[in-house]
Amino acid sequence: MGVYAMTGGATGIGAALKARLQSSGHDVICVDIRDADIVADLSTAEGREHAVAEVRARAADGLDGLIPCAGVPPVTQPLSLIARVNYFGVVAVVEGLKDLVAKRRGTVLLVGSNSAPMVTGDDSYVQACLDGDEDKACADIDARDGHTAYAGSKRALTMWMRRQVVAYAEMGVRINAVAPGITRTPLSEKVMSDPTLGQLMRDFADSVPWGGTAQPDQIASVMAFMLSEAADFVCGSVFFVDGGSDAMMRNDDF
Ligand code: NAI
Repeated sequence: MGVYAMTGGATGIGAALKARLQSSGHDVICVDIRDADIVADLSTAEGREHAVAEVRARAADGLDGLIPCAGVPPVTQPLSLIARVNYFGVVAVVEGLKDLVAKRRGTVLLVGSNSAPMVTGDDSYVQACLDGDEDKACADIDARDGHTAYAGSKRALTMWMRRQVVAYAEMGVRINAVAPGITRTPLSEKVMSDPTLGQLMRDFADSVPWGGTAQPDQIASVMAFMLSEAADFVCGSVFFVDGGSDAMMRNDDF
């Protein structure tokens, strides 16, 4: 059975995926800010280094899969925390562990969002993320709004993933992203209860073609497939699992 490392497995989508992997007999090393094998704050350089070092110590023979799932919602303050966790924390963990994944010709599965296409790729914040300039990205986004902070972090992460595909494949790592729509987790509950974004999110959920919101396991089941041998020619792909909302908003783009 395989050895997987993941972040953000304490609740929500990550917890559902962790349960699925474990019930299939895999070992799962979980990093989270709480309730985890390795407790680390991925918003900080020290936390990221601690997470990487501890995973390396536990998985010296390599990883079959790496799933950086930890994320924070658009209602997080300061907004720069969204950039730090959702983009820079993810990239640092993946870059710090990619050689362990290569060792087993394994796979990295990022968690994007169906909100990612709502911010353009040439946005200054997205570009600062892609340039690896954390100070600039944080200063830029602290002066803006939560939607841009969140969707922009996922836009940058998805673009980063696509840009790594060739180099990672040459290294022996298959990298992909899942792009969930609204999923019933502590993260989305925080947005739903926000006085401003809550109503927008409920209206958005009402517009989803296949109906409403997902349960975490409806995302985790697709992620488990993307990690599995059955998906071993899936490389550089973004799987929207969003009840059809991306197709509704961007008919002709794919
Ligand atoms: P969640 O809040 O249930 O899980 C997020 C996990 O990340 C938690 O276990 C939390 O403790 C951990 N975390 C947060 N900050 C951290 C930090 N600084 N260091 C380490 N761990 C930290 O949320 P959910 O919904 O399960 O989110 C999982 C992923 O799915 C996130 O990347 C999120 O952006 C993404 N997503 C969620 C959607 C939704 O509607 N729930 C929609 C699209 C994407």
